[in-house]
Amino acid sequence: MSNTAKLELDGKVYELPVVTGTEGERAIDISTLRSASGAITLDDGYSNTGSCRSAITFIDGERGILRYRGIPIEELAEKSTFVETAYLIIYGHLPTSRELQRFSGLLTQNELLHEDMKFHFEGFPTSAHPMAILSSMINGSACFYPECMEPYHAETFDEEAARLISQVRTIAAFAYRKSRGLPIIYPKPVYKYTANFLHMMFSQPYADYDLQPEVVRALDLIFLLHADHEQNCSTATVRFTASSQANLFASAAAGVCALWGPLHGGANQAVIEMLEQIRKEGDDGSKFIEAAKDKKSGRRLMGFGHRVYKNYDPRAKIIKAQCDALLNTLKINDPLLDIAIKLETAALNDPYFIERKLYPNVDFYSGIIMRAIGIPVEMFTVIFAIGRMPGWIANYLEISEDKSSRIYRPRQVYVGANKSPYVPIKDRRAAE
Ligand code: CMC
Repeated sequence: MSNTAKLELDGKVYELPVVTGTEGERAIDISTLRSASGAITLDDGYSNTGSCRSAITFIDGERGILRYRGIPIEELAEKSTFVETAYLIIYGHLPTSRELQRFSGLLTQNELLHEDMKFHFEGFPTSAHPMAILSSMINGSACFYPECMEPYHAETFDEEAARLISQVRTIAAFAYRKSRGLPIIYPKPVYKYTANFLHMMFSQPYADYDLQPEVVRALDLIFLLHADHEQNCSTATVRFTASSQANLFASAAAGVCALWGPLHGGANQAVIEMLEQIRKEGDDGSKFIEAAKDKKSGRRLMGFGHRVYKNYDPRAKIIKAQCDALLNTLKINDPLLDIAIKLETAALNDPYFIERKLYPNVDFYSGIIMRAIGIPVEMFTVIFAIGRMPGWIANYLEISEDKSSRIYRPRQVYVGANKSPYVPIKDRRAAE
């Protein structure tokens, strides 16, 4: 296979190096193209652009493969926990018992927010979306630790990363309590990561929440399955922000904002809202499928389709199995699950979805699990953000440690007005 690609422009041939990844994917390195030819490449939505070299996560969207640091997602889902997987993603290898103990210890030591943070929660209206609270409070929390306001330092990174992973969960639970007018529940060091989150969400000052192992495991699995997903919109945003040497907390807060949109992390909320709407309208899903195929309707089948997966999202398969198991254990009969199954079957047999290779993604069934646990719909994207934190941190670390890394600064093809004079206000005419 050739190590160079040739590009001909205006009769001149340019040789461009071809880079090959460890799984054989090939990329044409165009970094010298503009200086050599004056031309840039144009790739709306970046679907054909590799923005970095990364050793964290591998996806083969055609074959439905996802691996963190080389380990298949199916194996991690079966054998690992969110905290162990977080370590793997950030540090590049599965931890030894000592490493895991130290990492878990750091998470516990950093689980409490600075007490003054409580006053910041008071400032939000009860109607505030928890993603708005989360993004502000991540930056707010960093203000209490001077080292967190600094660009990357190897010496303080471990503690900062642990603080972020641990505190994002505390902030999320506090945001939920605030939105319901409920008293804040502090974390308990005796609980592990996910159990502690459920405790802060659902305990009362006078009674601890009953932690059912199946519920803890299901939520832990949701965190694990969301832990990284290479250069998606929010992770690319984190890298973008980090490339200017913004600090870890600021970079993660930017990631939260990017994740919020319904085409990305907001899709899990949008799926449940779609299923509720279908139920209210008395539709069995067939009318909605027809609307989703019609661009004029403005509707899409939420939880379906993916920029990278042109096959079943491997996370969706694992989540569906977990969803069935949890509902069975909790003896919940959720009518939304029946609608979801009908929609999935109909879409997978419909030429529109088949031709476009649209399959269920991670968000299609995760909301049904979260509903069963009692997590309100507006918290779904927050759960995604908690899960995605290790991936954002690992990408922040990767870019910060790369000595050759430069500030991200794409180019554009300008299509606006040509040079025109400034017109004094008295001479301006309203546009017709
Ligand atoms: N329902 C109906 N049609 C769809 C859908 C859908 N969910 N997704 C894509 N299409 C159609 C789209 O209209 C287009 O049709 P045509 O070729 O006739 O113009 C074709 O499929 C390709 O779609 P696209 O919008 O060019 O694909 P994209 O790669 O830009 O978008 C996506 C990917 C995930 C934003 C999109 O599939 C979508 O909006 N899905 C619903 C929202 C969703 O579930 N998002 C969660 C993604 S997974 C979690 C995460 O990591 O963020």
